Amino acid sequence: MSNISRKNSSNYGANLSRDYKSFQDFIRASYINVYGEVTQETYRSYFKEKNKLYPDIQETRENAANILDKLPIYQLKAWSIRNLRRLKYSQPNVGIDTMVHQQSNELEKELNELIINAGDELDLNPDIPIPEYYKYVDFHQQPGGVWRDDIDGLIYDYGRATTNPNQSDPNQVYYNMWDKLPKNKQYKNVLDWGTGHGGGIIAWMLNNPNSKGYGVDISAPCLKLAHVRAREAGVKVKFSQQDIANLNYKDNFFDMIFHMFMLHELPQKVTPFLFEEACRVLKPGGIFIGMELALLEGVPSQHILLQTDTWLNNEPYMASCVDADYKKIAKNAGFSKVEAIKVVRNTDAMGPVAKDIPPKATWNYYVFEK
Ligand SMILES: C[S@@+](CC[C@H](N)C(=O)[O-])C[C@H]1O[C@@H](n2cnc3c(N)ncnc32)[C@H](O)[C@@H]1O
Repeated sequence: MSNISRKNSSNYGANLSRDYKSFQDFIRASYINVYGEVTQETYRSYFKEKNKLYPDIQETRENAANILDKLPIYQLKAWSIRNLRRLKYSQPNVGIDTMVHQQSNELEKELNELIINAGDELDLNPDIPIPEYYKYVDFHQQPGGVWRDDIDGLIYDYGRATTNPNQSDPNQVYYNMWDKLPKNKQYKNVLDWGTGHGGGIIAWMLNNPNSKGYGVDISAPCLKLAHVRAREAGVKVKFSQQDIANLNYKDNFFDMIFHMFMLHELPQKVTPFLFEEACRVLKPGGIFIGMELALLEGVPSQHILLQTDTWLNNEPYMASCVDADYKKIAKNAGFSKVEAIKVVRNTDAMGPVAKDIPPKATWNYYVFEK
């Protein structure tokens, strides 16, 4: 077929057609528009309506939701969030999931050949129980989740190219987070907590070759892909299939554990135990650092818009995550110093945002020391 280009040189992956590439470019451009201009217009319409109908009533989440629900621009935003993501994965010809499934036989065979000589760099546990809170949710609308079929890791890896559509380097999120690490410490043993496709720990190892890198995840397909990507990058990482509720590392082993957008995929009832377990395997003075979306103080409409993004993208635990007091949970779990560094951006994450509306991007860097 003339419009098929071979995958990116020597890297493991699918054959990507020109149609696939242009469709995914269209998805990226549409995200930028929806999270940029459509979101700005939603805020403007919302404030106009609120000032017209209820000038004297204090804004609450409930009345913000009621006003937003009736606005056509909000309905367009909600429809787009749901359906762009759906199309990204499941468009019948050029969705990521569709495209990878069309080549699944070859891709699974190749993946399993590539991991034959993994040795102690890949430790899989086919009998591991999958937690229910994870098993029944297709997070961010990836059909079937990221853990069932061998190709699921590759689908996840392709998907992240448009998760932060304005950042051409998907690893930028890790560099920004590591900037917040205390500078006076040595990070020798480093664990990527919920490593997924392995992008975070691979980027760490490329920049910190004297560290020993570890990646833990419950998903075997993700770990297989992560191992292959680490080999392609020329770094050594020990990937291991474990539940972060019950790690098989000894006490006081890691100098640093990091995580990325992990907390909103965990229900509140498990988070305290997971923090305790992370604290157990950290050395005294070790750092547990992570990035997570957060709310603006006193802007209930921002909360509703954030929740719209998350519910429609199948992120059910985000609702409680943004209200959780992670500093308190970390203190109770045994950390001695806890800090939440809030970042509020008017620009950058999803395109420029005008001054007359609340900033679009807000998140916390949680930095906990044992
Ligand atoms: C939000 S993703 C983060 C992936 C990656 N670290 C990144 O930066 O994009 C969450 C990851 O955590 C894994 N995960 C979720 N619950 C887990 C658990 N209980 N034990 C181990 N891994 C888990 C998922 O399989 C998924 O790969």
